[in-house]
Amino acid sequence: MSNILVTGAAGFIGFHLSKVLLQRGDTVVGIDNLNHYYDVNLKLARLKQLEAYPNFTFHKLDLADRTGIENLFKQYTFDKVANLAAQAGVRYSIENPHCYIDSNVTGFLHILEGCRHHQIKHLVFASSSSVYGANTKQPFSESDGVDHPLALYAATKKANELMAHSYASLYKLPCTGLRFFTVYGPWGRPDMALFLFTKAILAGEPIQLFNNGDMVRDFTYVDDIVEGIKRALDNSAQPDPNWNSNHPDPSSSYAPYRIYNIGNSTPVKLMDYIHAIEKATGKTAILQKMPMQAGDVPSTCADVSKLERELGYKPKTLTSQGVEKFVMWYQKAYPHIK
Ligand SMILES: NC(=O)c1ccc[n+]([C@@H]2O[C@H](COP(=O)([O-])OP(=O)(O)OC[C@H]3O[C@@H](n4cnc5c(N)ncnc54)[C@H](O)[C@@H]3O)[C@@H](O)[C@H]2O)c1
Repeated sequence: MSNILVTGAAGFIGFHLSKVLLQRGDTVVGIDNLNHYYDVNLKLARLKQLEAYPNFTFHKLDLADRTGIENLFKQYTFDKVANLAAQAGVRYSIENPHCYIDSNVTGFLHILEGCRHHQIKHLVFASSSSVYGANTKQPFSESDGVDHPLALYAATKKANELMAHSYASLYKLPCTGLRFFTVYGPWGRPDMALFLFTKAILAGEPIQLFNNGDMVRDFTYVDDIVEGIKRALDNSAQPDPNWNSNHPDPSSSYAPYRIYNIGNSTPVKLMDYIHAIEKATGKTAILQKMPMQAGDVPSTCADVSKLERELGYKPKTLTSQGVEKFVMWYQKAYPHIK
């Protein structure tokens, strides 16, 4: 049993992770700034569930609030930190770049400083498949170069990986960065395709298909993501004795630092994803074809062999099953939209 700080606890993945940690008996302190990027009521409804656990405490706090984060680390003795708070969304970062630097870069620095000054045993943080950017070699492997981001969001996630490595090297702070691949499931984000599509299909409204629907995504069910985060949290990053500075592997180090992909490893065509929603809702989608969006990539697929080899991770959920679970949750949560 550990004392764990979960940032972004009112968010989609932070909520699911916190719930699993609380259920197994860890003590969780959750923080979140409850910003208005999407419906705050959804964030509050997630929090309400977490607040039913006696081993959960919540603070409304912004990562960018330096003094607030310093005081939080003084108030509690954390064993581990899971940093999931961030300004998410590729498209939003094109119109609103500043909040990505505040939350994802300045905010992440405050977390690193808290970990450094309070001897945190392990920092696990959310990175993203978007760091692969212009890379078209698939599946994406952690040993691929990630120097060509297509949007500021991706650049901030890559920045997190670099910042974490410097702290792992300077202060021996064990750090694990996890590159999530398009996460979906119950309590999911209203700005993401599954939520938008389900809402529109049930309301008989058209859905927008970017790149004319010619998209492929490695959709990953949230329970599989949480299983990967849990395995990472429980196995602290160690220095890699085989790391060779003449041929440096970007995903490990002489310092206690490592990077893992967490994906499903089974890329799905967007149209097949839509067919799964149609099947689960019993309704036919009205399609509106749109051009490719700036900053977006046409295709993602994760090579998860490193996580499988080192931490025994294996994604379990088929897209058809995961989509059905989402639609069941959505219809219960938003009955008025049927
Ligand atoms: N969902 C995905 O498909 C996906 C894919 C790749 C990476 N990620 C990353 O995983 C993490 C969790 O994503 P999510 O899908 O749960 O998103 P989310 O937006 O649902 O959760 C993030 C939470 O962080 C909070 N937050 C944002 N800025 C903050 C700040 N400055 N201080 C405190 N709280 C703040 C938000 O209010 C939100 O509740 C993020 O770091 C995201 O970038 C998600």
